[in-house]
Amino acid sequence: MANASELNQIAVATEGARAAIATEGARVAVVTGAARGIGLAIVQWFLAHGYNVALLDIDRTTLAATQSALTPRERLLTLPCDVSNPAEVESTAATVIAKWGRVDALVNNAGVAVFKPALETSFEEWRHVLGTNLDGTFLCTQAFGAIMKTQRSGAIVNIASISGLRASTLRVAYGTSKAAIIHLTKQYAAELGNYGVRVNAVCPGPVETEMAKLVHTPAIRSDYYDAIPLGRYGTPEEMANVVGFLCSKEASYVNGQSLANDGGFDAVGVGLPTFRRDEGINRIGDDTP
Ligand SMILES: NC(=O)c1ccc[n+]([C@@H]2O[C@H](COP(=O)([O-])OP(=O)(O)OC[C@H]3O[C@@H](n4cnc5c(N)ncnc54)[C@H](O)[C@@H]3O)[C@@H](O)[C@H]2O)c1
Repeated sequence: MANASELNQIAVATEGARAAIATEGARVAVVTGAARGIGLAIVQWFLAHGYNVALLDIDRTTLAATQSALTPRERLLTLPCDVSNPAEVESTAATVIAKWGRVDALVNNAGVAVFKPALETSFEEWRHVLGTNLDGTFLCTQAFGAIMKTQRSGAIVNIASISGLRASTLRVAYGTSKAAIIHLTKQYAAELGNYGVRVNAVCPGPVETEMAKLVHTPAIRSDYYDAIPLGRYGTPEEMANVVGFLCSKEASYVNGQSLANDGGFDAVGVGLPTFRRDEGINRIGDDTP
């Protein structure tokens, strides 16, 4: 009969074998803009659910720092990549396939925002936003979608925005890029659905990230608190949970949809601040940094 030390060795060996099997047989997720913010939360969701994860980002420094903070290392692949560059996207897809041989989930999350009055937005700013947000989503879906088509399985989630569902000031480039992503989602769903590949979009409301810090002035924050029934910003984890659901088998019949994950912002029209004043409801989140 094995003694305590032998039992311990067997347990360690079994755990090691289980980890090796998990790495080799695991599903594979690719997340763009993965170095921080919502993308990083999505990476953490996939890791927590047993996926191998390829992290793509244009920012090498932050990507390297993120890599060293994440575990388990053997389930990570960090790949510097500009999603708006066709050659870089192609070679990145080849690297993922060489390493893991399949792709089960693609999350097109990489994005940039420029908030400016429409007539002050330069062509360079327009191209930067459209190039990253829209071209990047197109290029990554072309590359990884082709792999999924061959597999006859996979799920793609595009990160759009409530700015793609409702027009608002300062977002001529950003809002237009996100509205286009919502339609692009339907176009791909129509064709890739025939091969068992589902394509959906998530439209986040305001989420506390570096991007929000950059473009959400105090006035914009105040507008959001007024307009959102839940009265607060969302968290990256709340975005990741919905993305994860759309990639999971629990969402196996959901295709071509754009889901607002926004505390109710998209559902309401005029009157919310008036109602709150009349009901004596304080705005939640006035003290959010
Ligand atoms: N934060 C919000 O309030 C909010 C609301 C709605 C939608 N979104 C969307 O969510 C996504 C993530 O936003 P976030 O708030 O986490 O922003 P973030 O700026 O914190 O992260 C975006 C990441 O994308 C990367 N990136 C930028 N350009 C790239 C490129 N060309 N190639 C590869 N990577 C690139 C950045 O380096 C960064 O790591 C974006 O698509 C954004 O438009 C954010």
